[in-house]
Amino acid sequence: KKLLLINGPNLNLLGTREPGIYGHMTLADIEKALKNIAFTDGFELLTFQSNHEGALIDRVHKAKTEDIAGIVINPAGYTHTSVALRDALAGVAIPFIEVHLSNIYKRESFRHHSYFSDLAEGVICGLGWQGYVYALRQLASKQS
Ligand code: DQA
Repeated sequence: KKLLLINGPNLNLLGTREPGIYGHMTLADIEKALKNIAFTDGFELLTFQSNHEGALIDRVHKAKTEDIAGIVINPAGYTHTSVALRDALAGVAIPFIEVHLSNIYKRESFRHHSYFSDLAEGVICGLGWQGYVYALRQLASKQS
């Protein structure tokens, strides 16, 4: 049983990027903790981060061939711009949960709209990296 975690642009800078907003954990720290949690729940967690829209789309397509039960995705800046990444998720029809570290509704108005939320099983924002934990647990509980 496999789940997939996808992180979009600039999230490779976590830990150093605006820590007041995004926290002090690096993406490697977060991925490691989540892999352990998934393992405890009986799942293998695959992880992917890219700064490139096409690479993110290709990764979503590949998930269809890998028997991925669910996707946790933080589309980062592409949340607010990418019809193409949205269409990829709709195309593979794998259930997904959208996560944002920060509360996007507390921030600039251009962050208030997401191209993903109306397709997502659920949306979590403002809870920091724990948001990924809740999303993962939710997908795991739906599959087991
Ligand atoms: C983000 C919020 C987005 O608005 C922003 O562009 C990001 C990260 C978050 O996790 O809070 O890069 O998705």
